[in-house]
Amino acid sequence: MSENPSSDSEYLSDSVAIVTGASSGIGEATAEALATEGATVVLAARRVTELEALADRITTEGGDALVVETDVTAEDDIDALVETTTDVYGRIDILVNNAGVMLLEPLERADRSNLRQMVEVNLMGLMNLTHAVVPIMQQQEGGHVVNVSSIAGRQTMPSGSGYNATKFGVNAFTDAIRQELSPQNIRTTIIEPGAVDTELGTHIPDEQVLEQLAEREIPTLASEDIARGIVYATNQPEHVDVNEIMIRPTGQTRN
Ligand SMILES: NC(=O)c1ccc[n+]([C@@H]2O[C@H](COP(=O)([O-])OP(=O)(O)OC[C@H]3O[C@@H](n4cnc5c(N)ncnc54)[C@H](OP(=O)(O)O)[C@@H]3O)[C@@H](O)[C@H]2O)c1
Repeated sequence: MSENPSSDSEYLSDSVAIVTGASSGIGEATAEALATEGATVVLAARRVTELEALADRITTEGGDALVVETDVTAEDDIDALVETTTDVYGRIDILVNNAGVMLLEPLERADRSNLRQMVEVNLMGLMNLTHAVVPIMQQQEGGHVVNVSSIAGRQTMPSGSGYNATKFGVNAFTDAIRQELSPQNIRTTIIEPGAVDTELGTHIPDEQVLEQLAEREIPTLASEDIARGIVYATNQPEHVDVNEIMIRPTGQTRN
């Protein structure tokens, strides 16, 4: 990464960024925003058609994007994502761990497989991919891990026990590795969005929770609003380590 402060994009223009969950929502907007700032983006998720459409948009606009079909719950996929990225580009400057699921249910009605899926995607996937990428960043003597958590990583809510547990876990994991990696010139950022208008809530399995959320009528952010926060955190000179950003829509008072 360059240290020339004359351009806003200067810190991102030669960087290689992996973005998980890039097939929709915040991940898609983040990949597009990083590419607009000049980063090469590696797009990871399970839905390849969506990733390819995004890669086409980015390359049409003059950017560089690579699609790697990835299920973050599969350790082989994680290793293949890292290997493909280093084979093609030779480095990984930024890792945006964004893939996530929010299967809200009261515990008494919760399906164990949903609890497991949230842990596997939101927490184990994020930890395993970070574990795979950090040695490369250490070799490069620099890098940046951005972990997309949530307000739900700071405040609990009814029907959110499983989701809250994963996002509190993301915050704890990230702050612990911050203390290990910061002296090695590897930066960490926790991103904590409030309500964002994406597909996330459409997978909620519990009808009553869906009804309660529909009745709430709280304002929402767009994915691009979060993407700007991620660009802000990553587009800084090397001595600036933006560790945490919470972004709520104006008017949202709790989660
Ligand atoms: N929307 C909000 O209000 C909000 C608030 C706070 C935090 N967040 C967090 O923001 C992140 C992005 O969510 P979003 O709101 O943008 O929702 P979204 O549109 O549903 O995006 C979720 C992304 O995660 C990917 N994903 C899910 N399971 C995966 C797996 N096993 N392997 C790889 N990728 C997987 C999905 O891709 P595929 O299905 O193609 O694999 C999709 O691209 C999540 O971590 C979420 O917890 C969202």
